[in-house]
Amino acid sequence: MERLDKILSGTGRWSRREVKDLVRQGRVLLDDAPAKAPDQKIDPRQTRLRVDGEEILYERFTYLMLHKPAGVLSAVEDSRQKTVLDLLPEYLRRRNLSPVGRLDKDTEGLLLLTNDGDLAHRLLSPRHHVDKVYYARVEGALEESDVAAFAAGITLGDGLECLPAGLEILSPCEALVTLQEGKFHQVKRMLAARGKPVVYLKRLKMGPLTLDDALVPGAFRPLTEEECGNLQKAGL
Ligand code: URA
Repeated sequence: MERLDKILSGTGRWSRREVKDLVRQGRVLLDDAPAKAPDQKIDPRQTRLRVDGEEILYERFTYLMLHKPAGVLSAVEDSRQKTVLDLLPEYLRRRNLSPVGRLDKDTEGLLLLTNDGDLAHRLLSPRHHVDKVYYARVEGALEESDVAAFAAGITLGDGLECLPAGLEILSPCEALVTLQEGKFHQVKRMLAARGKPVVYLKRLKMGPLTLDDALVPGAFRPLTEEECGNLQKAGL
């Protein structure tokens, strides 16, 4: 059971104050009867909820796939720079969404935004070994010795030892990099350690999620039921 004002304000479409007014004006129907009070508790899975005749579908959490463009921060807010939350309309910005992990300001690609903190934690936890796949373009020519070094586990300049990682060469200056961890600037630092600095980086996959080709940089969409199911199937 959940409070009516929590459910309705959780959609991001109305503030609690506005919900109070809607209820007072008799505009909120529970099944066919006007709601009595904003703090009334209902089971949103059992009760048909309508506002001004429009059915409100209950979603406990929100999951958005964003194609992060270069030039925005993977943060919730920043006093000076644009963040990924600034790419969303107001009603979604009110839902307490956070990016799951960080992409550098100049990195593009798949970023999940959610208010499901447990899922975010599982996706980021090293225990869950979630594969992240990046497309990288580098200066210089990639070689089989780089593939072997990635597979063996690269040691970075500061002594940090990376877990074994995948490097699939697509062309001399392009590759797919698969990591199970997400240390600061990790792909860039691993490739720089091989003398092949990254000039462009884009995340294509995170666990069972693949960046939707139909999303142009800056665009987003909710995860489909299938994608949510795949996260669950993967134990996430
Ligand atoms: N590795 C990087 O170097 N940068 C990113 O944004 C993500 C992974």
